[in-house]
Amino acid sequence: MTTTPSASQPSWWQQAAVYQVYLRSFQDTDGDGIGDLEGLRRRLPYLAGLGVDTLWLSPVHPSPDVDFGYDVADYTAVHPAFGGVADLERVVTEARAAGLRVILDGVFNHTSDQHPWFQQSVSDPDGPFGDFYLWRDGDRPPNNWGSTFGGPAWRHVPERGQWVLHSFAPEQPDLNWRSPAVVEAVLDSMRFWLERGVSGFRLDVFNCYLKDPGLRDNPRRKDLIGLLGGLAYRFIGQEHVYDRDHPDLAAVLGRMRALADTHDAVLVGETLDERLTYDNAAQWVGPDRLHLAFHFRLLHSRWGARPFAEAIRSWTESLGPDGWPTWVLSNHDFPRAATRWGGRDDRARLAAFLACTLRGTPFLYQGDELGMREGRLERAEIVDPPGRRFWPFYRGRDGARTPMQWEAGPGAGFTTGTPWLPVHPDHVTRNVAAQQDDSRSLLCFWRRALAARRSCPDLLHGVQGTVETPDGELVRFRRGDTDILVNLGDAPVRLRMPRADERPVRLATHGRLDRTVEGVRLRTCEGLALGPLPA
Ligand code: NOJ
Repeated sequence: MTTTPSASQPSWWQQAAVYQVYLRSFQDTDGDGIGDLEGLRRRLPYLAGLGVDTLWLSPVHPSPDVDFGYDVADYTAVHPAFGGVADLERVVTEARAAGLRVILDGVFNHTSDQHPWFQQSVSDPDGPFGDFYLWRDGDRPPNNWGSTFGGPAWRHVPERGQWVLHSFAPEQPDLNWRSPAVVEAVLDSMRFWLERGVSGFRLDVFNCYLKDPGLRDNPRRKDLIGLLGGLAYRFIGQEHVYDRDHPDLAAVLGRMRALADTHDAVLVGETLDERLTYDNAAQWVGPDRLHLAFHFRLLHSRWGARPFAEAIRSWTESLGPDGWPTWVLSNHDFPRAATRWGGRDDRARLAAFLACTLRGTPFLYQGDELGMREGRLERAEIVDPPGRRFWPFYRGRDGARTPMQWEAGPGAGFTTGTPWLPVHPDHVTRNVAAQQDDSRSLLCFWRRALAARRSCPDLLHGVQGTVETPDGELVRFRRGDTDILVNLGDAPVRLRMPRADERPVRLATHGRLDRTVEGVRLRTCEGLALGPLPA
């Protein structure tokens, strides 16, 4: 079965709206302060009611949790804190019955050092797992590469008397993707879940799988960020020429794609790009590669018509007319969108409007539908490895991972125990219970926006016109016959538009519209999608 995009018949993953479940913080049911699969199962009606149709679960596998699941110790099992394989199968089945697909996080650039593959690789260098990781001899680290989490990317392992590469924490050794046995082992792990009804994978830092075979030194980065940042943080001081995006990656992605397509599953790739442009990701998207890739430039943009328009243009142009974009406002790695963009609910609402009116697949991070704010943790509460290393210059990612805010009571309805990260104090007012029946709430707006996208062919798969910034803080583009108008500014914007008052409203951020026979007036942070004049 092929899932190549076609203008007339969009694939399920093009029509999808994806919700990222950061399971540890979603819903706890056994009082250990950590979310679990049973919690997710009980919340499926909430998710179906929100109007998303695909759930991406952050890693569910056994892990020593050095990097909170992104250090996997067994790809074909479930973390005991979350449940077991049967619990995941039940979630997949019940989700499907509720109209929701489930995709898993495929963390295949590296494993945990507790993974049996690594342990056998250490203890038996000549055995079947001997070359599963990137081992090198020497008195010094084999090259100058830096770890994303700080320090050198090499760790010396005395038992084997060699260095092993780790692009992230020392406890996360990189797999050797040039070993055919590694490729087969990863494909087997994927197959295991595809056969259990999983609908695809989000591929963690997939552009790091294949490195330069000679492991050459990366050149120094010569700009100010590289020179100054590189003093304390080797990773940022380099041009990442040799440790990622190697052309040989295409063949590996082709194998993964062939497997995914036999199960009508999707592959969405996450790239590592410290320059925050992400356009490089486009080269890995295509009929024999990934279906989708992330692009976090919009997420990293400062609030404003020009930066937003540039981020949108750069991604759509990099992908070309046949590519299908993803739109991500937040995830578990970056500060919460609502906080990043000034702590304003009107901006959070307008960002949601944009995510649902741009051509592409929107990704919604849990809690963003409530406008959840970044948690502020004391130093002693920080558990994220880079946050602990670089505090106070960088406080890590825990603030984006605080528990889901279901209700006002203690534990925010997330847990009856002590949550693994502190609940945000604003849960008393900002929670699902408070927003679900309030038609002016952000949660209800997300429901309307997702419903509009689903029901309006222009919004779902209409061709996207040029993204223009004609006036002040206005961003304007067309989707099919629908005009999308977005005022990011605090001053009103007037637009001439004949018989604007007769045109059908596909989606609007504000209840009462200000339009006449001559045109439209958009207020602060107002978004409006207007269909064509009736014939
Ligand atoms: C990207 C993930 O999103 C992040 O949370 C993780 O720390 C790194 N990859 C390493 O797996």
